[in-house]
Amino acid sequence: MSTIIEIKDLTKKYGKRTAVNHLNLNVNAGEIFGFVGPNGAGKTTTMRILATLLRANSGEAVIAGHSVKKSPRGVRGAIGYMPDAFGIYHDMRVWEYLDFFGACYQLRETERKRLVNDLLELVDMTPRRDDMVDKLSRGLQQRLGLARTLIHDPQVLILDEPASGLDPRARVEIRELLVELARMGKTVFFSTHILADVAEICTRVGIIEGGQIVALGTLDELQRGLAAQRAVHIVVLDQAAAAQEFLSALPGVSGVETPAEQTPQTRTRLEVKFTGDDTALSAMLTGLAARHVPVVHFSEDSQNLEDIFMQLTKSSLE
Ligand SMILES: Nc1ncnc2c1ncn2[C@@H]1O[C@H](COP(=O)(O)OP(=O)(O)O)[C@@H](O)[C@H]1O
Ligand SMILES: [Mg+2]
Repeated sequence: MSTIIEIKDLTKKYGKRTAVNHLNLNVNAGEIFGFVGPNGAGKTTTMRILATLLRANSGEAVIAGHSVKKSPRGVRGAIGYMPDAFGIYHDMRVWEYLDFFGACYQLRETERKRLVNDLLELVDMTPRRDDMVDKLSRGLQQRLGLARTLIHDPQVLILDEPASGLDPRARVEIRELLVELARMGKTVFFSTHILADVAEICTRVGIIEGGQIVALGTLDELQRGLAAQRAVHIVVLDQAAAAQEFLSALPGVSGVETPAEQTPQTRTRLEVKFTGDDTALSAMLTGLAARHVPVVHFSEDSQNLEDIFMQLTKSSLE
């Protein structure tokens, strides 16, 4: 696995406000990396620095071997950047839009014709080739924007909130497109403020908050590692007191509660808060069984992604 985006100690201030704060992050070639954070976290600022549209105050970023500081042209050749806003293009048809950007990259006319057809095919917009760009739905504009980033066949795609403002169907289409691009060998680095929405397609997720990475890993790692405190629900037919006593004494268990509303009356529901791995979790159940506690239900409350996200980024709400 080779690093294709390397962000080192990057800092960007707007006046007194620090938007990106000594940010460090590596993305490997071939990844679909989700850059996730609430509004104002510093995602757009970071991406604009990577796209060489904005200069950092300090630190460095290297993409496909090119420094954003020393070799911005090299960076631009290696990346396709899609900003968060599409921009306004009056009086332009879909094919003309792509053809125009192809001309900007100095592709010859015959070459452009083939490329425009291929790109429209890729984003499934061939039947829309003669539509006016400014009349397209946001979903189609995003797909066209994606096609545009591919004109010069870059290795790395930097996409700022490609799925935002889209209806559920259009979001699914964008997700599928990102997966397709990764299959074509592109590295996809994209931002979002909705973790659950996109996490399933990501090889890894980096959560940014206050201009810094606060969590990094695969979805699984985030769910396991960050859900430091786990909630386990146990229902026993009998011997609730013995179960409670045994559970309370286990390492990692910080509380055992029997909620007031118990249904049905013949069973007792126990809520265990504990910190530990899956081995410890399974030992909890075998321990109860060894003590002949009649367990009829044993489950872990899985924290959903939004819970994790809220937990990690709660400082922004304070
Ligand atoms: N041009 C600007 N001038 C001043 N402050 C800005 C500017 N752009 C962004 N900011 C501030 O920098 C912080 C990060 O913004 P941004 O990078 O847009 O975050 P995100 O894309 O994660 O929402 C926010 O506090 C925002 O208000
Ligand atoms: Mg943004």
